[in-house]
Order: sequence, then C-alpha cells, then structure tokens
Amino acid sequence: MSIHRKLTILGATGSIGDNTLQVVRGNKSRLQVVGIAGKKNFEKLAKIAEEFGVKHVGIYDPQAMEKAKSSGLFDKSVKFYCGPEGLEEIACLQEADTTVSAIVGTQALKPTISAIESGKDIALANKELLVMAGKFVMGAAARKGVKILPLDSEHNAIFQCLWGENKKDISKLIITASGGMFRDFTYEQMKSIKPADALRHPNWKMGPKVTIDSSTLANKGLEVIEAKWLFNVAPDQIQVVVQRQSLVHSMVQFSDGSVKAHLSPPSMTFAISHSLLCPDRGNYVCEPIDFTKPITLDFSPPDTEKFPALKYAYEALRKGGTATAVFNAANEVAVESFLNEKISWLEIPQIICQSFESTPIREPETLDDVLIDDAEARKNARSAVNRLLSK
Ligand SMILES: NC(=O)c1ccc[n+]([C@@H]2O[C@H](COP(=O)([O-])OP(=O)(O)OC[C@H]3O[C@@H](n4cnc5c(N)ncnc54)[C@H](OP(=O)(O)O)[C@@H]3O)[C@@H](O)[C@H]2O)c1
Repeated sequence: MSIHRKLTILGATGSIGDNTLQVVRGNKSRLQVVGIAGKKNFEKLAKIAEEFGVKHVGIYDPQAMEKAKSSGLFDKSVKFYCGPEGLEEIACLQEADTTVSAIVGTQALKPTISAIESGKDIALANKELLVMAGKFVMGAAARKGVKILPLDSEHNAIFQCLWGENKKDISKLIITASGGMFRDFTYEQMKSIKPADALRHPNWKMGPKVTIDSSTLANKGLEVIEAKWLFNVAPDQIQVVVQRQSLVHSMVQFSDGSVKAHLSPPSMTFAISHSLLCPDRGNYVCEPIDFTKPITLDFSPPDTEKFPALKYAYEALRKGGTATAVFNAANEVAVESFLNEKISWLEIPQIICQSFESTPIREPETLDDVLIDDAEARKNARSAVNRLLSK
C-alpha cells in the first residue's frame, strides 16, 4: 500500500498531536510524519522524532530551542525551525503534502495560511482560525485548490454525514455537545467553580483551553462558527443539542426530515483517522462502540441562560465581519484570566459581552484588518478584566 499522506504536525506535543500519532502508529503503511512542531516541550518532540524518524523539528520558544540543541536528544541530521518564521517555514515543508493544524489559539493562523499558500492540504483541528479569519482561510484554500479536512470531531462527523449528499438538501447541521462539566450545576454552585474543577471534562481528554471552553459552552459557540465556514450554511441552519454520553458526534437533518448521525466512542482518533485517510477507512486504533452492551443516548436543548457564551457566539455569527474574531479574542483573554485566577468562571462570558460592547465591528478587507480588530478586542477584554480586579 502506498503512502496516502505525508504529514507535518503543528502542535505535535499536545492532545491532538498525541491522538494523531496514535492514528499514524496504527496506519504506518499509509501515513508518514515528516515534520513536527511545538512551543517548548523539546523532550517530547525528541521522543516523537526518534520514534517516527522525523528530520524536521520546530520549537517556537528560542530558549527551549537552545536547550534542545545542546540536549543531545536529537539525531545530528535533524533540521530545527524556531520562532514565528520557523513555524511558517516548517508548515510549508516540501516533503509534506498535508499540514495538521493543532496549535492551540490564534498562533496557528500565519503558519496555516502559509501552508495553504504553499499548496498543502490542511487537517484542521484549530477551530479558532476559522472563527477569527474564516473568510481568508477558506478564500486562500479555494484559490489554491487545497482541501480543508475537518479534524474536530463534530465537523468530521458532519463531513461524514454529508458524504454523497446534495448540499441543497441540507435542512440542519446538528452539532452535539456533552454539556460540559457543569451541565447540572445551579447558579449558586457555578459561583465557586475553580480552574481545577473546570479542567476535568466528564468524557474527553483535551488541552486546558478547549477543556475550559467546553465547560462554558464557548467551545460549542466556536464550533457553530467553524461549521458555518466549513459547510457554508446560514446561522439558523446550525443547531446545538446536548448529547451527554458524547457518542453521537453530530448529525445532519435533510429536507425530507431524515437524519444521519455519526457515532463512535469519545476519542479523537476516529475523526483524525477519517480526516487523514478519507475516502478510505483506516485501521481502528481505539475500541469501537460495543452494541452488545446496553447504550443510552440522551438529547436535550442547551441552556443558553446558564451558558451565555453560546448565545454570544450566535450573535457574533449573525453580526458577521470581525464580530466572530472579537468573540474569539475576548474568550481567549477571559480563559487565560480565569486559569490565572484573576476572574471567576462566571465572569468569562461577561468579559466576552463587555468586549463586544467596546470593540467596533467591520467587514475586514484584509487579514491585517482582522489582526487589528483581534488586538483591539484583546485590549478591551484585558481592560474589562482589570475593571473586575479593581472592584
Ligand atoms: N484536544 C481535543 O480533543 C480537541 C478537539 C477538537 C479541537 N481541538 C483544537 O485543537 C487545537 C489544539 O488543542 P489541544 O487540546 O491539542 O491543545 P494542547 O493539548 O494544549 O496542545 C497545544 C499544542 O500547541 C503547541 N503550541 C502552543 N503554542 C505554540 C506556538 N506558539 N508554536 C508552536 N506550538 C505551539 C503546544 O506545544 P507545547 O507542548 O510545547 O506547549 C502543543 O503541542 C485547539 O485549537 C483546540 O481547540 C482540540
């Protein structure tokens, strides 16, 4: 069997990176890793480079890079890439045909756009990119004729449900949510949520930012916006449903009322395997659902009064222009402030709301317009955090 994809994994040391490498281990004759990048965890990068014979290694942080070079952990033939320029260079490796975009946050924007410009297909985990700059990411992909392969489990589920279907027949995309850690909490209980509580997800093992986003449903908001860009549907055609067991990863309802759903256990390996190997199927690397055992599937609407971040995401999507970038930037600042114990969990959506009120929205003409409004939203979000701190 010939190699189907040669990968550069941006964010190889993170949770998506771990899952991607697990999929590669199970499909070695079809997937090859040629480049890996992370921020500073060079010891883990060295282990990955050794196991997969990777010769191109990106380390964003210059101090970590110096330590890596003198550590003796890497083979002498390894070529290193450092800083933002290095990240852009490794994202465009000549030896690779696909870049896995799994760096957390907006740092992934420039390397991902560069990878698209150099003709790589993108396996997209980082949802913030489309939320911030969907018009430019999708525009560049269309212009270069490269594929944006949805790697996020919900979007990959929708991608699978739409396989062989006609776009005109889509009635609704139904994105499922576990409901997060605090789905059954009262408002009183929510007042005392601490970072350690919010970092424990009931069903999924993920990095800290996305775990906090899951607890506030901001993650679902980001996914609603991501779905609009990936599948080109109107905001009102995207519905969110709580599916507590995280077995149904999303669904599509068609014009005749029929619904197609995608099911698997809550492991990202299923979505990653599909996105990297489609239209073929990979070998399974994680136990599939066992239908000989009793299974319960609950569905219920989300409570947007208790979890207003989801409501704000829909508002941003309907406003359009840079509103979704403002939502994303304010949320990133709020999550970081919560993790640093500067604000409470309940104040995360308040920071998003206040940033909306203080940041002008416009239709961006260029990516720079987006970056300017992103910076403005971050500044306004930090001011909102400081106002709360001085109370
Ligand atoms: N985890 C999931 O199940 C899941 C599901 C769907 C979508 N996603 C999305 O996938 C993305 C990654 O999530 P994650 O959970 O894998 O995050 P994570 O576990 O926190 O890992 C983040 C990765 O990004 C790297 N990184 C951070 N800043 C960087 C920089 N400036 N330059 C180079 N590398 C950098 C980190 O390197 P170091 O280790 O060196 O810090 C690490 O490899 C997020 O956008 C998230 O929303 C995640």
